[in-house]
Amino acid sequence: MEAEELRVGFVGAGMMAGGLGRGLLRAGKVPASNIVVSAPSDRNLGVWREWGCRTTHCNLEVLQESTVVFLATKPHVLPTVLQELRPAVTPQHLLISLAAGVTLQKLQRLLPAGTKVLRLMPNLPCVLQVYLFAEAMAEGAVKMGMPVGLASRITAQTLLGAAKMLLETGEHPAKLRGDVCTPGGTTIHGLYQLEKGALRATVMNAVQAATERACEMGED
Ligand SMILES: NC(=O)c1ccc[n+]([C@@H]2O[C@H](COP(=O)([O-])OP(=O)(O)OC[C@H]3O[C@@H](n4cnc5c(N)ncnc54)[C@H](OP(=O)(O)O)[C@@H]3O)[C@@H](O)[C@H]2O)c1
Repeated sequence: MEAEELRVGFVGAGMMAGGLGRGLLRAGKVPASNIVVSAPSDRNLGVWREWGCRTTHCNLEVLQESTVVFLATKPHVLPTVLQELRPAVTPQHLLISLAAGVTLQKLQRLLPAGTKVLRLMPNLPCVLQVYLFAEAMAEGAVKMGMPVGLASRITAQTLLGAAKMLLETGEHPAKLRGDVCTPGGTTIHGLYQLEKGALRATVMNAVQAATERACEMGED
């Protein structure tokens, strides 16, 4: 589907919706005029209007005007929101829930049979871990005397370049890492410190902890 044809909605306009919306717009995945966002108050809607998106206080309007709808309210609000949306959901809609702990089974029970519905939750804590890693990388550069602004920009470009390499080559990360590891060079010295700090085990444990917490919160 062409970007101009894609119509994206957000029910809930807060932090998570804002992060995703900004990402979609920056990536040019969908024009701002094709995005509609709802929230009960104006608190978070102003920034969406500045980006050129349409805003409303009516959740049903979002469903009526979009094919892909992100459900970005707090988990405790979601059942009420789904009850409200339910009569207007069609087989053409794809609903994507960001709510922590609301299981796919629960979403399916709250929606008409056959509704296309996904959960985005398990990956989101990983995004936050990448921010944490970026912060640490930039602060390391600042520690070595680099100005703060330059350190953040270089960090972001490095992460962007690494992500592009992963996507474009389809290689395993270990292969790409091995390719840039000159014997006795800077990369292997840096890597040794990361291994001493058990970076991989720590990140794996963090993913496990976040996933288990999401499941606990979803127990119904
Ligand atoms: N924040 C995180 O780090 C994080 C990480 C992973 C997953 N999540 C999940 O993402 C979801 C959103 O979290 P968040 O941090 O973005 O929350 P948030 O910043 O509090 O945003 C919640 C949004 O929902 C809106 N809202 C409240 N009641 C509503 C209703 N009846 N109909 C439509 N919109 C309604 C709020 O409206 P107002 O603007 O009027 O207040 C606000 O715009 C949650 O389910 C959370 O579990 C969050």
